[in-house]
Amino acid sequence: MKDLLQIRGLSLDRFNAVLDRADEYYDIVTAGKKPFPKLKDRSVITLFYENSTRTRTSFESAAKYLGAEVVNISVGASSVQKGESLKDTALTLDAMYPDVIVMRHSQSGAPHRLAGWVRAHVINGGDGLHAHPTQALLDMFTARRRFGDLKGRKAAIVGDIKHSRVARSNIYAMTLAGMQVNVFGAGTLMPAGIEQMPCKVCKSLEEAIKGCDIVMALRIQLERMKGGLFPSAGEYNRYFGLGKKAMELAAPGAIVMHPGPVNRGVELSHDLLDTDMCVKDEQVTGGLCVRMALLDMLINKEL
Ligand code: CP
Repeated sequence: MKDLLQIRGLSLDRFNAVLDRADEYYDIVTAGKKPFPKLKDRSVITLFYENSTRTRTSFESAAKYLGAEVVNISVGASSVQKGESLKDTALTLDAMYPDVIVMRHSQSGAPHRLAGWVRAHVINGGDGLHAHPTQALLDMFTARRRFGDLKGRKAAIVGDIKHSRVARSNIYAMTLAGMQVNVFGAGTLMPAGIEQMPCKVCKSLEEAIKGCDIVMALRIQLERMKGGLFPSAGEYNRYFGLGKKAMELAAPGAIVMHPGPVNRGVELSHDLLDTDMCVKDEQVTGGLCVRMALLDMLINKEL
């Protein structure tokens, strides 16, 4: 396997292999130990055309934990600002012989184009509305650590489905793991064609959440909205926000996930965010371990 660009099309064997390796790294990292530097003398470039805290930092940390060199390209301070094209930027970076380029871009499909131009492995760190495969892997890693085998478990993805690459990747990842997936959002935040995806489109938050083991709340992506798709943040929270009361409908022991960053008090209420039910910080630790596993297995040709 050269690149990881999306979850759709990934085999269950590869999916499980990455999560199994991430489990090994989880035990090492949470015990405060350093793993064997399996990526010594290897190099990773992060090329982010959009802002990021979690994804970029965890890829950098993951690479460094394993002994690799990391170069972070800040697009705002690069020759992209002088008009250099995506292809010329890609060829320039590839000429420095990195092992992996992790890319985030606002245009859906940009990492796929990059992968066709470079020798390096390409990992999609999020492209437009399309995919965020490592987010879905880390979400499934977090869920698997909590519940064990995910087959037959139920999940609800609620919120701004329309603008969410996290939702699209998770619908495929959850289905791959054998889960049933419900989705719900305000009418203006549901994408055309959602019925063709492997999920059940629900008519209310209550219908979506009922009996679910995992409820994933999505961020309202104001930066991708062209017009006012809802009247106000307060009104959105009142009608579509996830709070403790709504979670009473979920299965006993259910968890709440959020990919971050969170708009506190908008898609997730304060009363829920700071409870044990909400595992957003466990997701971040999982993200580090999943990205360690992925870098290790791609570079060492184990995928
Ligand atoms: N979940 C996620 O992709 O977060 P960042 O935008 O901070 O990377």
